[in-house]
This record gives sequence, structure tokens and C-alpha cells, in this order.
Amino acid sequence: EFDFENVTIDQHGPLAVLTVNRPKALNALNSETLGEISQAIDLIMDNAEISALIITGSGEKAFVAGADISELSQLTDVYAGRDVALAGQDVMTQISQLPIPVIGAVNGFALGGGFELALACDIRVASPRSRLGLPEVTLGLLPGFGGTQRLSRLVGAGRALDLMLTARQISAEEALQMGIVNYIADEPLSKAREVAESIIKNGPIAISLVKEAVRRGLDTTLEAGCEIEADLFGMAVATADFREGTGAFLAKRKPEFKGE
Ligand code: CAA
Repeated sequence: EFDFENVTIDQHGPLAVLTVNRPKALNALNSETLGEISQAIDLIMDNAEISALIITGSGEKAFVAGADISELSQLTDVYAGRDVALAGQDVMTQISQLPIPVIGAVNGFALGGGFELALACDIRVASPRSRLGLPEVTLGLLPGFGGTQRLSRLVGAGRALDLMLTARQISAEEALQMGIVNYIADEPLSKAREVAESIIKNGPIAISLVKEAVRRGLDTTLEAGCEIEADLFGMAVATADFREGTGAFLAKRKPEFKGE
């Protein structure tokens, strides 16, 4: 149905699984693959049945081993370099702004742009074998797909700077302790599905409003963030889903949300 070179999409009822599938380069993100991820997400969002997205990598070894180093190595021009970063950032922003929950199933190496892809997800599940890191400085580069910003916001500048400046790889266990990874599971894809299922039982509008409040709040002051929260709270109480959720609680039955 889809004609992608390096990305596959599978649908399991309300769950879509997007797999980066470029095994010869450990799923590294060349510009073609980034473009396909973006198009695949557009297709997934056109499907009204889908209420959660899981992003993973093919094979046992890697989630995504970074941006494609052979492609990057051709860059010399300041403006061309900036455009490459902006193009990658656009895809990460597209992911982080989706109204549905996005779970990263980190099944192996998540390095550089691969770590940044995982950071664009809402929640991360890692296999015990996975290794995470931002090795860009070893290449004379810095993270360019949002990593300097998203990692600092997630774990604070001190821990983010340690990882970015030393370029060290961390285990899933250390990533869990730092709050980078939410769960460790032998089968990260099935755990990701389980987490997705537990989220999508809840009101879909409420889910998208939570995501929006957190995302927009991180870009502003506490006061302005609380105002955003209040605005979105106002939107929530005007939904049929809120009538259903509260009505179901009071009637001691399970809610059936319609996303209205
Ligand atoms: N880009 C292009 N090709 C890559 C790649 C990448 N990021 N990562 C791995 N590959 C290729 C290798 O070149 C190799 O290809 P060949 O078989 O044709 O030689 C193949 O994938 C298998 O990789 P290795 O032989 O290196 O496998 P390994 O088990 O020895 O090592 C690894 C695994 C530690 C992940 C190692 O591949 C590695 O260090 N990869 C690069 C990681 C990295 O530096 N990522 C950051 C990229 S820069 C970036 O992402 C910038 C940004 O912020 C946007």
C-alpha cells in the first residue's frame, strides 16, 4: 500500500507502528528516510482509526544509529548545514506536536539523531540491550535535530551537558535512572503497545490537551504556562467526552469516549 524505501507502517487496530527500516546503515537517518518518516506520519494522521503511534527501528541491533554520517560528511556550506538541521528538526517537531500519544520503542542503539528521534516521542521504552548517547562532538559536530534543547528540558542542563560533552553512551538502566527512558522491557515493542493501550482508554481530546499544555508550557514562564493550562481546561469541560467521563464515574460504569 505504501511505497517507502526505508520506513514501514503497520496498523494494529487503533495503534500504528512506524518502523525505520534501513538495516545496512543501522537505520541511520539520511534525508530520504527523514522525508519518508514525515510522509508516513501524515498518512497515519489521515487515518481516523489511529489513536496512538509507536516508533521503532528494524532489527535487533539498532533503534536508529543517528543521522547518516556519509551524507553529513559532504556538507561544507554554513547555510546548507543549517538547512539540514532545520529539516531534521521539522520532522522531530512534527512528531512532538502530534495530538495522539507517541511512544518510542528503543530496541537497540539510539545515538545522535536516533536519540533525538526518541526524545521527540512522549514516552520511551528501551530494551535492556539498548545504548543511548549523543556522540556528535566525536564527529566535530553538535546535535542538530533538537537534542541540545529537548534533552536539557527533559533532564536539566547539567545532565544533558555531561552526555553531550563526553559523548558517552549510557545503558537503558542509566537512562531510566535519569528519566530519559520511562520503562525497560525485553520486548520494547510489546511493552510500548501495552503503554499505548493504557493511554488510549482515556479521552482522546484530554490526551491531546495534556500534550499541548506540557509542550507549550515548557516554552514559557510558570505563570503563562498556568494560563495555557486554564485555557485548555476550559476547552476540556466543553467537550462531550468530559460529560461522558464524569457521567460514567458517577454512574459507576466505564466511559466510552468519542473524541468529541
Ligand atoms: N550513518 C551512516 N552509516 C552508519 C551510521 C550512521 N550514523 N551508523 C552506522 N552506520 C553503518 C556503518 O557505516 C556500517 O556500514 P558498513 O557495513 O557499510 O561498513 C553499518 O552501519 C554497521 O555499523 P558498524 O559496522 O559501525 O557497527 P558496529 O557494531 O561496529 O558499531 C555503532 C555500532 C556503535 C552504532 C556504530 O555504528 C556507530 O558509532 N555509529 C555512528 C553513531 C553516531 O555517531 N551517530 C551520530 C551521527 S551524527 C548525528 O546524528 C547528527 C545529528 O544530531 C543530526
